[in-house]
Amino acid sequence: MKIGVLKAYEGSLVALVPSIAAKMAKEGYEFIMEKGAGTNAFFTDGDYEAEGVRVADRETVFREGQLILADTKIPESEFPMISSGTIVVGRFNPLVEKAYCEKLEKAPFTVFSLDTVPRSSIAQSMDILSSLASLSGYMAVLSAANRFPGYFPMMTTAAGTVPPAKVMVVGAGVAGLQAIATARRLGAVVEAFDVRTAVKEEVQSLGARFIEVEGSTEDKGAGGYAVEQSEAYISRQKELIHERASKSDVIITTANIPGRKAPLLIEQATVAAMRPGSVIIDMAAVSGGNCALSKDQQEVDVNGVRIIGNSALFQQLPREASRLYSTNLYHFLKFILKDGIENMPFTHEIVQKTLIGELKAIKVAS
Ligand code: NAI
Repeated sequence: MKIGVLKAYEGSLVALVPSIAAKMAKEGYEFIMEKGAGTNAFFTDGDYEAEGVRVADRETVFREGQLILADTKIPESEFPMISSGTIVVGRFNPLVEKAYCEKLEKAPFTVFSLDTVPRSSIAQSMDILSSLASLSGYMAVLSAANRFPGYFPMMTTAAGTVPPAKVMVVGAGVAGLQAIATARRLGAVVEAFDVRTAVKEEVQSLGARFIEVEGSTEDKGAGGYAVEQSEAYISRQKELIHERASKSDVIITTANIPGRKAPLLIEQATVAAMRPGSVIIDMAAVSGGNCALSKDQQEVDVNGVRIIGNSALFQQLPREASRLYSTNLYHFLKFILKDGIENMPFTHEIVQKTLIGELKAIKVAS
């Protein structure tokens, strides 16, 4: 099978890294890659050519790839270049990019998006959200530490003792737990909120304090994800966050409910209660934000409090993010192609959940 790899128009990730190309070449796959596709992730065309990948222009990749790997959106104007029967696999964010994904549904090619892989043990190796969220959680702490005018660890000097930074993490899922671990490694005092009480032990095992808000709604059928909370709960939670915020140097928010607007947990008054020099990193910015004053993809200053809205901090670690993404794609391809493209395990939950729209007629290799 010939697999085409596109250069991403947005961001810096590439869907195939040279080590995965080498591994798959041994398994009989052929690759054709758009020139410069790996450049932003620090992989040269030569690195790919050394593994037997053919480098070509975008049109040729569209024409020859029986299966196409992408990162983010392929512009609609390019859909006519993708012949019917092609399979496109990427990261199209169907829970947020609804209008774009409706267009993909109507296209004559089959599309899979790995950001809706189920949270099951068999799909763990394909779970791009976990891979990328973990990098983002790490980067959130480094970004905050870079802007915070103080020091993260406690330090005793001849001129006195520097107190440790106080970090609050709201949402202790994959990104939040990595943020907690990173902040603790830097020596900060960390506390965390989450609506899922199951994470309490994980938070505590990382050396952080878990702040419980009474009366959360949990649903075991939500696939490990949180569900929407009552107004009364959110209002109690906001009060507690407000009280803790004035004592925090850094707040990192990751609270999300898949397919819904992110819960608003930090109001303007809470930001006003924070000391100048404090930092808020809102990682839910793309789905509306957990902080009333954050703006997606922007850094704003509100009376000395820096607020960064960024749900894709993994983009700042493009090489590692691409390695993980490419590995997740590899496991997904192995799964769907294990009995040949014509015998895809169509009824399996992994195929059903990642498929955008329907499975269209598939081009079988000539
Ligand atoms: P996410 O990105 O959808 O949400 C992030 C966090 O925000 C979650 O922990 C959620 O409970 C929390 N949250 C939502 N509303 C909140 C509120 N009002 N206040 C405070 N926190 C709030 O979720 P993520 O991080 O992608 O995954 C959530 C969980 O799924 C993980 O912690 C893990 O338990 C499970 N998981 C399971 C996997 C598997 O079994 N293969 C793989 C990855 C995750």
